[in-house]
Amino acid sequence: MKVSTLSTGVVLLPLVLAAPATQPIILRNLAVPRFFGAAANTSWLYHDKNYTEVISTQFSIFTPENEMKWENIEPEPDSFDFGPADEIVQFAESVGAKMRGHNFMWGNQLPTWVNSSLTATELDKALQNHITTVMDHYRGKIYAWDVINEMISDNTPNETFKDNIWTQKFGEEAMPKALTYARAVDQQPKLYINDYGIEELGSKSDTLYSVVQGFLRDGVPVDAIGFQCHFTLGQVPGTLQQNLQRFADLGLDVAVTELDINLDGPGNATAFAQQAKDYWTVVNACMQTQRCVSVSVWGVSDDHSWIPNGEPLPWDAEKQPKPAFYAIADAFEGMPER
Ligand code: G3I
Repeated sequence: MKVSTLSTGVVLLPLVLAAPATQPIILRNLAVPRFFGAAANTSWLYHDKNYTEVISTQFSIFTPENEMKWENIEPEPDSFDFGPADEIVQFAESVGAKMRGHNFMWGNQLPTWVNSSLTATELDKALQNHITTVMDHYRGKIYAWDVINEMISDNTPNETFKDNIWTQKFGEEAMPKALTYARAVDQQPKLYINDYGIEELGSKSDTLYSVVQGFLRDGVPVDAIGFQCHFTLGQVPGTLQQNLQRFADLGLDVAVTELDINLDGPGNATAFAQQAKDYWTVVNACMQTQRCVSVSVWGVSDDHSWIPNGEPLPWDAEKQPKPAFYAIADAFEGMPER
């Protein structure tokens, strides 16, 4: 190193300009004012070190993947097990993230005692007790509840609602019951109707749209629609943004609640590039919709996804960011797709 000495005796050291430190990409920061979220799962939280590191830094909202579902949280009548769900809520608090509760009325993951021989009156009491007890337990801690999950039929327009225990016992009063019970317990959380297959303009989303219009007309409480967005590679619907916007135009919040892109084939560079484009398209659709409040992915890393070999998430099995991760960052930053 060249060192100069002035006549005053002061020693001048050459100015070394440090290379700018590369800032890590933190998606939850780029998403502001929206939330970037994930389904969290207690099987890996604190048990898988790298998973825990990613989930602790990248997200501002969490949905329990299974821990709040009826079969887990009230497995026997009026006997509640809040342990695993509490773990996620406490974790969210510890990293300054919000919570989406998931869910109250769904045809799946019900304990046998609910999904069997109760009369309509008994089931009604069980539903109200379930919603009241769980919402009371988490009062002040949950930003949004998926009060309704997957209740719209896959056979629209011939059939409006799915055939399950709720519609068998309550008919078209099923959804209003759950939403009304939820609002009566706590006015703070946003009440969501969450579903899959409603992402594009089409028969199923048209059906939901008219159901929701009816609810708003009749004063049934609903604040928001959750679009799950479980997509297969290259099949993000071109009408996603237009569809989000029409629900927003009803005065509702909208959110992408369970995003993943199933490769449904080999994980090569071409597939990962297309997957990145697909992620960009979905996040960008949310960004272009003022009432779109959050984008949540359904899991974190490919090894812990509900889709065993689909490599559908933004982090790979080693918890390294994939092209999809950078595409999400681009979309949140308003950058064009690569
Ligand atoms: O906990 C039991 C365990 O005790 C048992 O040994 C094991 C044997 O298979 O099963 C475990 O339960 C599994 C549970 O996940 C926890 O891992 C269930 O079999 C399995 O069916 C369940 O799958 C979940 C699925 O919902 C159930 O429908 C997935 O993890 C979860 O990602 C998925 O999430 C849903 C959303 O809630 C709604 N939208 C669609 C989305 C994907 O299907």
